[in-house]
Amino acid sequence: MLNRLHGEETNCYRLFHGAVEGFPGCSIDRYGDILLIQTWREPLEPQTLDLISSEIGQALGCHLQPVWNHRAPSRLGGRPSFNDWQDPGPFSECIGRELGIRYDVCPRHGGADPLLFLDFRVGRRRIRAAAAHSVLNLFAYTCGAGIASALAGAHEVWNVDFSAGALAVGTRNANLNDITVGQDFRLIREDVFPVIRQCAGLPLGGRLSRKRRQPLTVPRRFFDLIVLDPPRWAKSAFGTVDVMRDYASLFKPAVLATRPSGAILATNNVAAVNADDWVNTMVRCAKKTGRSIRSVEILEPEPDFPSPDGRPATKIAWLIVD
Ligand SMILES: C[S@@+](CC[C@H](N)C(=O)[O-])C[C@H]1O[C@@H](n2cnc3c(N)ncnc32)[C@H](O)[C@@H]1O
Repeated sequence: MLNRLHGEETNCYRLFHGAVEGFPGCSIDRYGDILLIQTWREPLEPQTLDLISSEIGQALGCHLQPVWNHRAPSRLGGRPSFNDWQDPGPFSECIGRELGIRYDVCPRHGGADPLLFLDFRVGRRRIRAAAAHSVLNLFAYTCGAGIASALAGAHEVWNVDFSAGALAVGTRNANLNDITVGQDFRLIREDVFPVIRQCAGLPLGGRLSRKRRQPLTVPRRFFDLIVLDPPRWAKSAFGTVDVMRDYASLFKPAVLATRPSGAILATNNVAAVNADDWVNTMVRCAKKTGRSIRSVEILEPEPDFPSPDGRPATKIAWLIVD
């Protein structure tokens, strides 16, 4: 597996997937020159950190800078401070490569999650192969899917996310790959709901409240590809993202904003949701809008994200919409 990944200019991958290797609550990833160790349960002993680092360095034949991010909630509540657990020292270069694309992979930043989600590589790979002309990247985060689209030849990419910090990394990622941020590669700091609903020609929706500001106005329009990779749950003034109970509130407008014969790359990262049930929900939802799903391709996770029971927690589907 590693030879293949290195051969296609990928140096960001999972090395240890504790959930399926008998050590839940721990994962070890390579991000370029960084060895990122994340724990969600028990903290590691300092000597364990050294051991992991030297064993992996020997196996890979190169030294990676170990960074340990302990993500268990702190006893005092609130977000843990990673620096309390380990000071990894200054970082030399925090640029990782995936399929030849350069990404900012700094392991310590304003948020807790890594800047590039490795299990979505299969999605970014599919995006590159599809080479769609116009792409709407919803919940864009650091714009990985948008960058992959632009480098696959898309003439127009909209990246929508309400986090300024995530989009700032998106700008860095664009710069790292000589993509100019502007009309052709747009970063839209906005709530997904009003953007997708306006593209779909639907009223804004959500509860009207005094707190709600006027969202960005966008025209009714169609895209060749819509990337729909939402978090499990998130509430905003314009609606609630609830992947488990209400996928349709995102999927319906996405269908209506997809050009006939265009594609939706959809994800569902709730382990408890059955893949067939999720796909059926999307097929039924498309039908109710008067459109239909012509085909569904389930994208299996890449080998560094094994799922021995064949039921990966993150489900990724490529759907063609008629
Ligand atoms: C799981 S990440 C998405 C990962 C991303 N698609 C990728 O390719 O790496 C979730 C993102 O959704 C954004 N988000 C959550 N709710 C949102 C909303 N209602 N409108 C806009 N962005 C939202 C968060 O700011 C975060 O960046």
